Amino acid sequence: MELKATNGKVTREQDKVIKEFHAPIERLNEEWFYHYNMYHKMHGHNVKVHEYSPNHIVMDYVEGRQLGDCVNDMASMRYHSKEFLENRSDVKRKFHSLVACYHTIIGSFYEYSSSQDTGFWHNDPSETNLIYDGTSLMLVDPEEFHVHEFVDMVAINPSPDWLFYFNRLARRVYAYDCKENDRPYLGMV
Ligand SMILES: Nc1ncnc2c1ncn2[C@@H]1O[C@H](COP(=O)(O)OP(=O)(O)O)[C@@H](O)[C@H]1O
Ligand SMILES: [Mg+2]
Repeated sequence: MELKATNGKVTREQDKVIKEFHAPIERLNEEWFYHYNMYHKMHGHNVKVHEYSPNHIVMDYVEGRQLGDCVNDMASMRYHSKEFLENRSDVKRKFHSLVACYHTIIGSFYEYSSSQDTGFWHNDPSETNLIYDGTSLMLVDPEEFHVHEFVDMVAINPSPDWLFYFNRLARRVYAYDCKENDRPYLGMV
């Protein structure tokens, strides 16, 4: 089954996913794979890769949903709705747990790199490249992992917007339905 992708042809075959790139990615070399596996062993936030070349990657299939879809579900709830009021505690815990997972992953790039002689990080940990299984987040799009002197996410992907993604979500959920006094910490939309 073919999955929707822009950077290559992505096909699911049972429990594996094969990605064939539109153009060769030469930086997928031994050093990259060494760090990819070492990061996987130490932090485990990246999908297991079985085979790689500048033209393709074979990896595990990750069960779950794209982070963006999970967040949109939460964001579509209205503050005064029965759905939210009845599940208020669960929704808030899930939201905070998701944000915690996300920040753990960002922190792990720096933590991993602090134990190596190089920076190693995923340059596009965005809502489509993070898969949520209800408990934890997993990074796909392995070729977005980079090896360079310093972890340098903002310089290479000049859109720090997604760092505020979750705050925007919290505001979007509550801002329209709450009275001003109900949301003293969320500020202006
Ligand atoms: N190993 C995988 N397990 C589960 N879903 C995957 C996997 N690889 C890709 N996908 C799904 O396919 C989508 C596109 O794949 P991706 O490698 O991110 O392509 P692109 O480089 O075009 O962004 C991802 O956003 C994700 O939803
Ligand atoms: Mg992607």
